[in-house]
Amino acid sequence: MWNRLIMFTGVCVGLAGIGLSQQSVSGVSGPDAISARQASLDMSAITFRSMRDAVNGGREAKTQAYAAAALAKWAKALPRLFPAGTAVGETIVNTQALPAIWRDRAGFEEAAAYYAETTAKLATLAASNDTAGFTKQLDEVNQACASCHARYKGGDQGPPKK
Ligand code: HEC
Repeated sequence: MWNRLIMFTGVCVGLAGIGLSQQSVSGVSGPDAISARQASLDMSAITFRSMRDAVNGGREAKTQAYAAAALAKWAKALPRLFPAGTAVGETIVNTQALPAIWRDRAGFEEAAAYYAETTAKLATLAASNDTAGFTKQLDEVNQACASCHARYKGGDQGPPKK
């Protein structure tokens, strides 16, 4: 009986948690958002390089469909991981997110939308196995990364050295 009660309570707490996270990111702290976005951006760099290495090594675009779709999925989630109060100087956590992201939110959202568009196209080209188109589209995606970084990311530009 106690076991069932404890289980029931656990389910309620679990459901309450789900409700909260679907409504807003308020359930995620600023430092959590920063570590999640930095990890995703690091994995984006790894994913991007592995796709480029694959086609340079003569592999067909369709072998990169999963990687391209993953990048497109992340591109749509990206802006939500930049909640207010997480710019450099506003938090004790190490971040390269410039205050310009919040000062010029429309521009940042536009840069993210362009990134989402270029990665969605990349995923479509991979799915249809258009290797020449896919290879060209990688340059467009790279451009979307670089143009956002130039305006909204501090520190070193270009691919990470780590
Ligand atoms: C819409 C803007 C935007 C786009 C698009 C974007 N980035 Fe970034 N990127 C940022 C910002 C802002 C930061 C700083 C985040 C922080 O330190 O909290 C960052 C940080 C990074 C970092 C450092 C992460 C760390 O551990 O500190 C890497 C690596 C990176 N981006 C790679 C990429 C790659 C590769 C792409 C494209 C495939 C890309 N980014 C697309 C805005 C963007």
